[in-house]
Amino acid sequence: MAHRVYVTRALPDEVLAPLRDTCRLEVWGGEGPVPAEVLFEGVADAEGLLCMLTDAIDRELLESAPNLRVVSQMAVGVDNIDVVECSRRGIAVGHTPGVLTETVADTAFALLGAIVRRLPEGEREVREGRWGPWSPFHLTGGDLHGSRMGIVGMGRIGRAVARRAAGFDMEVLYTSPNTSGVEGATASELSRLLATADHVVICAALNPETKGLIGARELDSMPTSSYLVNVARGPIVDPDALLDALAGGSIAGAALDVTDPEPLPPDHPLLALSNCLVVPHIASASARTRLAMAELAVENLLAALAGLPMPARHPGS
Ligand code: DGY
Repeated sequence: MAHRVYVTRALPDEVLAPLRDTCRLEVWGGEGPVPAEVLFEGVADAEGLLCMLTDAIDRELLESAPNLRVVSQMAVGVDNIDVVECSRRGIAVGHTPGVLTETVADTAFALLGAIVRRLPEGEREVREGRWGPWSPFHLTGGDLHGSRMGIVGMGRIGRAVARRAAGFDMEVLYTSPNTSGVEGATASELSRLLATADHVVICAALNPETKGLIGARELDSMPTSSYLVNVARGPIVDPDALLDALAGGSIAGAALDVTDPEPLPPDHPLLALSNCLVVPHIASASARTRLAMAELAVENLLAALAGLPMPARHPGS
């Protein structure tokens, strides 16, 4: 009997082809994330689920999916999945590390360069017809080269950001609970990293330890000339504290690929600040990388359904 699989977002035909060949497939084809009630129905007799970070794979959903053996997410972060509950139920969880590392690190650097050199402010000025004659200290910002970067979370992505930092002659500090030593970078307490870095880049996974890790006290301890970049998950940074820090000038600026909440409503006060750059969770969104993520999610699913090791099983499952 073909395995029954539910896929929560339309993916390219060539990506789904191996699943179609061997499984009975149902794919949510609507606009945006699958509504919860549709997902509940979809997983009711599914053995495999291919999901996105926008889907809540919580205890209630898992309870309604008695045949589920595999949850395969098209993302590296799995904070939307109750991995502990999956493990308890013998459900394997797959994710997509590795294939997105370099693209996310590229984006972290793009965001950092943009906010430090005030590119969004400059661009708005040009588009809005406010480009006046050249002026000696107009839109002066910070420097990337020769600065000190603090990386919070030194996993694959953190290390890829550190490699790029080396090319900019930066000194790199990092904080990471499970990392022993990283060549060319110095392990640090979070407090020292925040107090001394010119730029702080958040690359950590969201979990109970990192939720709200950067709050008012932490932001206050950063130099007023420093910048914050978040390419990890929004809730790692307290959104109200960040707003106060940016509006009150206790840090110079922030560039966010991820926010809390997400999406950020258009009237959110962060969006009124000229020293805040926000993009819509696109750090891994090169066409090639998103394709590789989708392919790996399919490979994980197929392997687990066949009783084989997943190419990328989440270590917590
Ligand atoms: C992830 O993979 O967790 C990103 O946030 C989306 O690429």
